Amino acid sequence: MSSWDDLIKHCNSCSKCGLGLGRTNIVIERGSRNAPIVLIGEGPGEQEDKQGLPFVGPAGKLLDLLLDALMFSPDDYYIANIVKCRPPGNRVPTEEESKKCIVFLREQVRLVRPCIIVCMGSTASKHIIDKGIKITQERGIWRKVKGFYILPTFHPAAILRDESKKALMFRDFKSVREKLNKIKKSDS
Ligand code: URA
Repeated sequence: MSSWDDLIKHCNSCSKCGLGLGRTNIVIERGSRNAPIVLIGEGPGEQEDKQGLPFVGPAGKLLDLLLDALMFSPDDYYIANIVKCRPPGNRVPTEEESKKCIVFLREQVRLVRPCIIVCMGSTASKHIIDKGIKITQERGIWRKVKGFYILPTFHPAAILRDESKKALMFRDFKSVREKLNKIKKSDS
């Protein structure tokens, strides 16, 4: 896989795990392929499977509100997931499903070349940052890995379940805004 066309072709024909059998659409990406920020979730839900786009259901609506509130434009972000096909009943993808699918995500990150990666929720944070990460304790703490600034935060669906986390997630995205402003300033 060396180009976007190659990557999309490989994703569309993928049958590396059982999730592909149940999919209506494969869910690959939303946002700008030239974005400075990559946002990573867990896997498609019902709406995403129907529409073939990540974060277009209730959690996505909340994410969009958050991004708008902090004045991010669609040029600023690229959204993807750990797995590209909907796990039945929205269960957490297995280790094996995630491992097989993450190859595509790595390729997406390589092609976008962001400076910031935001891992939303425990599945994304475990696969991208550290298997043992505890999101409630480590969210909001930046790391620099292989040239990327990486931030773990809550998954927007967690905010829908527990409103009390909203302010913390807002604080984390405000920190992303500040990091991006700083990077843009130092580039100019
Ligand atoms: N939850 C996710 O993790 N990803 C989506 O695309 C939608 C909901």
